[in-house]
Amino acid sequence: MKITLARTAGFCFGVNRALKLAYDAAESGINAVTLGMLIHNKSVADDLRRRGIEQIADLDEYRPGQTIIIRSHGVGRSVYEKLARLGAPVIDATCPFVLRIHEIVETELKEGRTVFVIGAREHPEVEGIADGHEHVFVFENTEEIRELLSSDPGLRTSPVSVVFQTTLTQNAKVLVIDFVKKICTNIRIFDTICKSTEKRQEEAAALARTEQMMIVLGDKSSSNSCKLAETCREYCDHVIFAESACEIEAASLAAFTSVGITAGASTPPWIIKEVYDKMSDNPIADATTNISEKEAAEQILDGQFEQVQAAPAVQANDTAPQAAETIKEEVPETEGADISAEDEESFESMLERSFKTLTTGEKVSGTVTAITPTEVYVDLGTKHAGYIPLSEISDDPTAKAEDIFKIGDAVEAYTIRVNDIEGTAMLSKKRLDTQKNWDTVETAYENKGVVEGVVTEENKGGIVVSVKGIRVFVPASQTGLPKDTPMSELIKTKVRLRITEVNRARRRVIGSIRSVKQEERRIAAEKVWSEIEVGKHYSGTVKSLTSYGAFVDIGGVDGMVHVTELSWDRIKSPADVVAVGDNIDVYVISFDKEKRKISLGCKNPEDNPWVKFTNKYAVGDVVPVKIVKFMNFGAFAQIIPGVDGLIHISQIADRRIGKPQDVLSEGQELEVQITEIDNEKKRVSLSIRALLNKAREEEQIPADPDEPEKVIPVF
Ligand code: F3S
Repeated sequence: MKITLARTAGFCFGVNRALKLAYDAAESGINAVTLGMLIHNKSVADDLRRRGIEQIADLDEYRPGQTIIIRSHGVGRSVYEKLARLGAPVIDATCPFVLRIHEIVETELKEGRTVFVIGAREHPEVEGIADGHEHVFVFENTEEIRELLSSDPGLRTSPVSVVFQTTLTQNAKVLVIDFVKKICTNIRIFDTICKSTEKRQEEAAALARTEQMMIVLGDKSSSNSCKLAETCREYCDHVIFAESACEIEAASLAAFTSVGITAGASTPPWIIKEVYDKMSDNPIADATTNISEKEAAEQILDGQFEQVQAAPAVQANDTAPQAAETIKEEVPETEGADISAEDEESFESMLERSFKTLTTGEKVSGTVTAITPTEVYVDLGTKHAGYIPLSEISDDPTAKAEDIFKIGDAVEAYTIRVNDIEGTAMLSKKRLDTQKNWDTVETAYENKGVVEGVVTEENKGGIVVSVKGIRVFVPASQTGLPKDTPMSELIKTKVRLRITEVNRARRRVIGSIRSVKQEERRIAAEKVWSEIEVGKHYSGTVKSLTSYGAFVDIGGVDGMVHVTELSWDRIKSPADVVAVGDNIDVYVISFDKEKRKISLGCKNPEDNPWVKFTNKYAVGDVVPVKIVKFMNFGAFAQIIPGVDGLIHISQIADRRIGKPQDVLSEGQELEVQITEIDNEKKRVSLSIRALLNKAREEEQIPADPDEPEKVIPVF
C-alpha cells in the first residue's frame, strides 16, 4: 500500500509556539495553569497535566500564585483586565497571527471606523477579538451583513474595516469581499486568514483527489479538524476521521492501495506516527515522525519541532509528493494587506510584493508589528510572517525585547529558517548585527580608526575588550597602563582602542589602547603649547616625584612643581604633601617652548602665611609661639604655620646665657613680644626679655643678675 503523509499534517506555528511556552513553564517548575484547553487535543492536555500544567475553565477558578497561560486562540480585553486586577502572572501564548488581528481592530476603532469580524461567533478567537468593543460586529455569513446594513443604512457610507477569523477559507473570504464592496462605499479589508490552515486544507483536498482513501487525524471537538475531514469528503468517498490509531481498523484498509494521511493543527506527532506505523510495513524510521510522546515533547522543548514539521512529505513508496506540488499552484495570497476600495491599484502592488519568496540566509528589512516577552514580530512585506526569537535579538542575556524595539520600528535581520508551509520566517537581528560589527572592526583596521569597547576580562598576556560584541585582545604592553599597574583595574571600564590586526576567518582581532592614548596625548600637548601663558591654571595629575619637586601632567605635557612651590609650609620632601596619581590645581610660573620646560606652582596666594601674619599682628603685639629650631645666635619660634620669628640669644632672658638651649627647649610654647617686622625680607624679631623687663617694671623689682632666669610660660 502506498501511504502519503501530508507535509502540513500536525502542529501549526501558533500551536507549536503555545506548546513550547507551556512545556518551558513546566520545565522551569512554574506553577502554571492554562485558561481553557491549550490546544484542542486531549492527549496533549493529559501530557501537560502529567507535567504539572493543569487547566482551569475560567478565572473564577484562579488561585493566587498561579501563572496563567493564555492559549493560542487568545482572549478578549475583559479577560486581560481581570488578569490585571487579579495580579496574575501571564504567559501569553496567543498566536501572533491572532494578536495581529487584535491590533488591527484596536487601530481601526481608534480611527473611528466600525469593524466587521467575519467568523464563527462562538469561536474563542472571534470572541476574544470582539470582546469589550462597541463598534465591532461579528458575522457568520453575508446574510447577516445584509440584515445589519438594512437596519442601519448609515453604515453603508460609514468607514468600515473588515477582518477574518484566521481559519476561514479563501472562498468564504472572497464571497464576503465581493459582497461588502458592492454595498459599502468606504471599506478597508484586512486579509487576516492564516496561511497554515489554508495550505493544510489545500493539501488535504489535493491528496483526497488522488488517493483512494483519506485518514484525517484530529480532535473531534476541533472545528478545524472537522473542516479538514469535510474537505476530504468532498473529493474522496472513503474518509476516516479519527482521534488516534485505535479508532482505525486495519481490516478496513485492506481494500485500498493508496491512502493519504492528514492531521489537524492540534494533532501531536506521536499520534501521526502511531497511525502511520499501524498502516505501513515500513514504520517511519527517521526523526521526522519516529518519536514517542515523550520524545516529541522533548523536541518541542528543544525548539526542534518546527524543523520536523518542515520536513518533506513522507512517502511509503517512491510516488512523488503530489500534494506538495499542488500547493505550489496556490492562488495569490493577501496576508496582512490593507485593501482600500478606492485604491485597487496599490493593493495589486501589495499583492505583487507578497509573492516574493524568502530564502534562508537572506538579508531582509521590515517593520515591527508586535512585541512579546519571547519574540518580536516583523512585517516583511512578503507572504511570510517574520519573527525574531529573543535569543536572536541580542547577545546580552538580560536584554528585553521591549527595551530594544518599539512597534513601528524599521528593522533589518537575516532569515535563519523559512517555513513556506506555515508562512513564517525566523529572523536573526543578532547575526546581522554581528556581520555589521565585523565590518565596522575591519573598516576601523583599514582606516586606522578608533573604536570603543568595554574590558570584559584579564588573561595571561593582556585583556579582552568587547567591541560591539566582538572580542578584541589587547596585549599587556598595549593597555596604556603605567608599569606595575594591575590590568584588573580596567575590567568593566570603557576604553578607546585602535585595531592592529584582524582575521575574520579565525575570529582573531588584536588592538592597542596605548596607540590611542599616545595620539590623544600628542594632540593635547599641541593644544597646551599653543595656549600656554604665565599664570594660566590647569588641573593636573602627579606623574612622578623627585627630591626637588613633583612632575605634573597638565594634559599631554608634564610640568615641574619645585618643592618650595608645593606648599607654604616648610616641607622636607614633595611626598609630604602629594602622591603619584593625585589631581592638583597648578598654575604656570614660567615656561620655555624651545626647551619644552614648564615651571609650575600650586600654592594658593590666599593661603600666603606672611599676608595672614601681617593682617593679624603688628610690632609690640604679644603672641603665643612654639620653639621650632635652635641656632647659635638664637631660637626660631613658629608664630603661625609658615611664619617663624627669631628670638635672638640676647632676647631670650634678662641676663647673659651661654646658648639658647640653656633656657629653652624644642617644642616649648610660650609668649613673646614682636619687636620688629621686616616686610621686604619677610623677617620677624621676637623677644622674651622685653616681656620680662615689662613685668619687672610693673612689680618695681630691680634686676638681680644672680637670680635664676624668668620665663613666662603660656601653658
Ligand atoms: Fe496561529 Fe494559524 Fe495556527 S492562526 S494558531 S498559526 S492555524
